[in-house]
Amino acid sequence: MFRPTIRERRARTPALQRATAAAAALCLCVACGFEPGPAPLEFSLSGATQSALEDAPAVRDQIARELTTLFGTPSQPAYAPHPAWDAAGVDLNQPDASAGAPYPGLAAAAETYRRECLHCHGVEGGGDGPSAFGLTPAPRDVRLGIFKYTALKDQSRPRRADILHTLEQGIAGTSMPNFQRLAPAVRESLADYVRYLAIRGEVESALVLTWREEEELSPEAVGEALTFVWSRWAKAPSKLVVYEGEVPAASKERIARGDALFHDPLKGNCASCHGTSGAGDGPAAWKIGVDGQREPAYSDAWGRPIRPRDLREGLFHGGSRPIDIYRRIYAGIPGGPMPALGETMKDGEPLLSSEEMWCLVHYVRSLSLREGP
Ligand code: HEC
Ligand code: HEC
Repeated sequence: MFRPTIRERRARTPALQRATAAAAALCLCVACGFEPGPAPLEFSLSGATQSALEDAPAVRDQIARELTTLFGTPSQPAYAPHPAWDAAGVDLNQPDASAGAPYPGLAAAAETYRRECLHCHGVEGGGDGPSAFGLTPAPRDVRLGIFKYTALKDQSRPRRADILHTLEQGIAGTSMPNFQRLAPAVRESLADYVRYLAIRGEVESALVLTWREEEELSPEAVGEALTFVWSRWAKAPSKLVVYEGEVPAASKERIARGDALFHDPLKGNCASCHGTSGAGDGPAAWKIGVDGQREPAYSDAWGRPIRPRDLREGLFHGGSRPIDIYRRIYAGIPGGPMPALGETMKDGEPLLSSEEMWCLVHYVRSLSLREGP
């Protein structure tokens, strides 16, 4: 059947008629105060949930509904009342603002996130915003609740202070910028919004798991999933890696001892991954793939290949102060193979003493700190 193209239709519409229609449309806009703005955002289920529940559309819908009830939407983010919050004595919708200035609140934080973070970290915090394409390392997918650069042991969930530290400092050597240009209270609200996205994502996977185990999702099971997820966040403040006292000086002796520990397979064993010269090319870091080519031996928690850092570059993602590197050696880097040595025991004794870890810190720093002309 013949359909006129738009151009043909426009050509046939008398000019006066077109002008009247345009004027009418304009009046309508002015009358209702219409201002064109971005469409409201919605949360989607993660790719992992979608594929896990490929054959169970009704469960997918139920999980999406439960999540909206518990967490609201990106335009109206809010934690629903829940016994876990009462037990912890916290109001996550109005956390204390230590920055002094008025606390913006979760909805305002969501708007700031939309402007500043979404293009990298995605609507749900999945690290899949439009600007994330091709970035290495990829923006963090916070939905697993795994954060790499905290001051905490036991692969703990982060404290607000840890996320704030990332926002203040950015992550050196990656595309993650610092946000010092935003007011401290705004950064606090953003840290709370990141936690909100992480908890929401973790509850989503907990619900999928519960359904798989129990083949139904009762209201009690939904409540328990949230209580379980929150219990891990609630523990964070007790997990701080503390070092009392002065940082031991970077003497020649300590650097030499650090060098020995770094290469000793029975002590630091760092060279197995980081290589003899610290270039990230140790034998444990690589394997031979099916096609006979060398490829990274490890994958991270997000399923991407991961390589030990080239320590000669001096780009420390978690900070380059001695205490930052001490914490990395003590607590490892969650989500990847870098081990936590602070509490590793051997024959009933700590594998490394605190003094030995400081020697390693100074040795690692010496690999990139070039002294003299
Ligand atoms: C240009 C892209 C980009 C933008 C914009 C961006 N990030 Fe990131 N972000 C990253 C990358 C890349 C990483 C991962 C770096 C790594 O693995 O070392 C990251 C990591 C993080 C982490 C994880 C830190 C950890 O300990 O694991 C948090 C939290 C974070 N970003 C929050 C934010 C917030 C909040 C905003 C907005 C205020 C934001 N980011 C904006 C790219 C970005
Ligand atoms: C099993 C392999 C493995 C071993 C053993 C290992 N590392 Fe690592 N290390 C890694 C990986 C992988 C990374 C990069 C992690 C990332 O980017 O998420 C890393 C990163 C680091 C970083 C960078 C931290 C930052 O803030 O960016 C330092 C420093 C480091 N390792 C020191 C050490 C020291 C010292 C030892 C020995 C006590 C050691 N590593 C043992 C795998 C290992």
